[in-house]
Amino acid sequence: MDASKIIVLITGANSGVGYATTQVIVSNSSKYHVIMACRNVSAGQEALDEIKGSSSMPAKGSLSLLQLDVSDEASIAAAAKSVENDFGHLDVLINNAGIGSLVPGAHSKESLHYVFDTNVFGPILMIQAFESLLEKSTYSKGPYILQVSSGLGSFSMASDTKDPFYKTTFGSYRMTKATLNMATLQSHIQLADKGFKVFAFCPGLVVSNLRGKTEEARSGWGMAGDPKLPGQGILNIIEGNRDDLVGKFVHKDGVYDW
Ligand SMILES: NC(=O)c1ccc[n+]([C@@H]2O[C@H](COP(=O)([O-])OP(=O)(O)OC[C@H]3O[C@@H](n4cnc5c(N)ncnc54)[C@H](OP(=O)(O)O)[C@@H]3O)[C@@H](O)[C@H]2O)c1
Repeated sequence: MDASKIIVLITGANSGVGYATTQVIVSNSSKYHVIMACRNVSAGQEALDEIKGSSSMPAKGSLSLLQLDVSDEASIAAAAKSVENDFGHLDVLINNAGIGSLVPGAHSKESLHYVFDTNVFGPILMIQAFESLLEKSTYSKGPYILQVSSGLGSFSMASDTKDPFYKTTFGSYRMTKATLNMATLQSHIQLADKGFKVFAFCPGLVVSNLRGKTEEARSGWGMAGDPKLPGQGILNIIEGNRDDLVGKFVHKDGVYDW
């Protein structure tokens, strides 16, 4: 591996925002190597092959695949070991993998565990496991940690009675993203002195499998946009163009209140 490459790890890279972000980054420049971290290796390999073979967005950068289930501590530890062996360091960590509620509106312990394991404990444990590799980053502008959150995790929005999602049934999903936001802020505060740049990022409503795999659900009942837009937003951050907003809850065009 060319030592000047910027090594980016994206969790949940086989689908939706993670897939689009991988494609945007590797089609942007040969300076990037993206590690596509996926829990399902065959889905990951299929996504990698598609991105590599794309004629509409030719891949200039390089790609590799890593098995990773962020809800499984042993899988996280094995993934960190593998990145250490293969690359010796990491420049950018994009904690993107996420899921919706198990049962809309259900707040049973099982249902809360299901969604908190992936959306909250996963990103927190990922930062702990990869911190020492990020400390060895060779990227002049990095290291970066991006936590893919959601505007639905904003307290300001959640308490706005005029917000169209005020009475949604995605309560446990909203709780996870609000908690992830606090975890992000804490990581920013703890890691800023080591030169880390930590952001929470909302991709906006985009086409993906998050709401389900039917066409209606994927398209957000016709309202969801192209996931390449948040991909561009993420690239913009890791290129150093939004460093003035480090430690904040950013979206493509601005900043959300927490
Ligand atoms: N799409 C939107 O409108 C929207 C809006 C706001 C925020 N977001 C956030 O964007 C992020 C990406 O979601 P998406 O919309 O792109 O949904 P998606 O198409 O369902 O993609 C989610 C990805 O995360 C992976 N994943 C789920 N659980 C995992 C685990 N335990 N370990 C490793 N990978 C796991 C999925 O793998 P499998 O393919 O194997 O299931 C998939 O690759 C999430 O954090 C979501 O909350 C999305």
